[in-house]
Amino acid sequence: MTLDISKFLENIIEKKTVVGVLGLGQVGLPTALCVLNANYKVIGIDRDEKLIQIIASGKSPLPESGFESLINKFLSNKLLRVSTSRSLLSEADIIIVCVPTPLDGLTFSADLSYLKNALTEISDLLDKQKLIVIESTIPPNTIKKILIPHVENKSGKKAGKDFLLSYCPERISPGNSLIEFTNNARIVGADDDDSLNLTNLFLKNITKGEISLSKSTTAELSKLAENSFRDLNIAFANELAIICEQSGADVLEVIRLANTHPRVNIHFPGPGVGGPCLTKDPYLLIQGQGMDSSLIKLARNTNDSMPDHVIKTLMGVFKSEAIFKKSKILILGVAYKPGVNDTRRSPTIDIISKLKEYDLENIFVHDPYTLESFGATMVSENLNSILNNFDCVITVTAHSQYKDLDKSLFKDDCIIVDAARVFEKDDFTDTNIIYLPLGSR
Ligand SMILES: NC(=O)c1ccc[n+]([C@@H]2O[C@H](COP(=O)([O-])OP(=O)(O)OC[C@H]3O[C@@H](n4cnc5c(N)ncnc54)[C@H](O)[C@@H]3O)[C@@H](O)[C@H]2O)c1
Repeated sequence: MTLDISKFLENIIEKKTVVGVLGLGQVGLPTALCVLNANYKVIGIDRDEKLIQIIASGKSPLPESGFESLINKFLSNKLLRVSTSRSLLSEADIIIVCVPTPLDGLTFSADLSYLKNALTEISDLLDKQKLIVIESTIPPNTIKKILIPHVENKSGKKAGKDFLLSYCPERISPGNSLIEFTNNARIVGADDDDSLNLTNLFLKNITKGEISLSKSTTAELSKLAENSFRDLNIAFANELAIICEQSGADVLEVIRLANTHPRVNIHFPGPGVGGPCLTKDPYLLIQGQGMDSSLIKLARNTNDSMPDHVIKTLMGVFKSEAIFKKSKILILGVAYKPGVNDTRRSPTIDIISKLKEYDLENIFVHDPYTLESFGATMVSENLNSILNNFDCVITVTAHSQYKDLDKSLFKDDCIIVDAARVFEKDDFTDTNIIYLPLGSR
C-alpha cells in the first residue's frame, strides 16, 4: 500500500478524518473532547469496561467542569463513539495513543508494556493508511529504537512508507485540561517529513498553541526536561525551606523577594511532590544513563524526603514518643494538588504510612474531592464541627476550602504543621496553638 499524503492532508482540512483515541484516562478523555470540539469524528477506546460504561452513559469519570455536557453533546450528535473493542479503530485515519507508561518500582525505568500492547493491537489494522500519534511520556529513543521497530515487526510494514508515526508529548494539567489542551504550546517529534507535517497540520486544526517541530528523540527529551526542571526547582525550594527554618526567615518571603529578580522563578516548597508526572519523568530522563548520583536523582530524593521532614517537625514538639503515639492526628488533603481528586503518588500516602511505622492508631484524613484514605480514617463531617477533636493537624494539599476554616475552632493546644502553607501566622497569635509552617519558625 502506498500512502496517499495529499488525500490525507485534504481530509484533515475538510474535517473528514476519523480520529481514534486509545486510552481514555486523564490525558485521553480531554484529548478526545478537544478533537471533537474541532468537529472531527472520534472513536474512543479503553480496555476498562467500567470506564467505557460511565462515558457511554453520558457521565464524566473525571471531575472537570464542562466534561459531562460535552460528552452528552457528542454522544447525541454521534460524533463520539466509545467502546472496549479495538477493532473499531480500523475506521480511524489518525490514532492518538494515551496509555500509561508507569515507572517500574524496581528498576526505576518506564514500563512500556501498555504502549507495546496498544501498538500490537494497532499493527493488525494498518491495511488502511494511518498516522499513529503517541502522547504517552517515554524515555529518550523509545520511538526510534523501540516503538517503530515494534510496529514494523508486528505488521510487516515500513514506517514512513506504509504507516506514519509521530510523538506529541502531552502537557495538560489535570483539573484544567480542556483550556490547557486548547492553548498550550505543543512539540511534535518525528523522523520522516510526512509524519511530522501531517501531525503539525492536524494539531493546528485542534489547538491554538504554538507548535514546534523536531526529531522524535529531541521531543522525548524536551518533555522529560520540562518536568525534571520543575522537580529540581521544587527540590531547591524545599531545601531553601529547611535552611529558612534553621535561619529564622520565612521561605515564602525569601522566594517572593528573590523572584522579583527578572531572571529568577523559584517554585513553591511543600510536603513532597506527587502526581503521575513529576515523580516519574526525571527517572525516565536518566534511565539507562548510569547517572545515579546526578542532580536530577538528588532532587527526586530531596522531594521524596519531605514527608519525613514533616513528621519530624511534628514529633519535635512532643516530649516523648509515647505521648506522640497517643495523639489524634488530622491530615488535611489527600489529592496530590489543590482542586482535584487525583491521589496518585500524593505525599499524604507517604505521611500516613510513616506515621503508621510509629504505631499511631488515630490517623484521620479529610479531602473535599476524594474518599480515598490509604489506611487512615476518612472524616466526611463538616470540618469546623470536628476540628477541636484533634491534637495535631497537618496540611498537605492547599485546597481552597481549608483557607476558610474557622481557626478559633482548633483545639486550644493543637499542634499545626502547615506544610501546604494554607494558614497565616497571624491566625494563631495570642493563642496556645503551636503553629509550624513549612519553611518558617
Ligand atoms: N495525567 C497527566 O497529567 C499527564 C500529563 C502529561 C502526560 N501524561 C502521560 O500520558 C500517559 C497517560 O497518562 P494518563 O494520566 O492519562 O493515564 P491514565 O491511567 O489516567 O489513563 C490511561 C488509560 O489507558 C487505558 N489503557 C491501558 N492500556 C490500554 C490498551 N491497550 N487499550 C486501551 N486502553 C488502554 C487504561 O485503562 C486507562 O484508562 C502517560 O504516559 C503519562 O505519563 C500524563
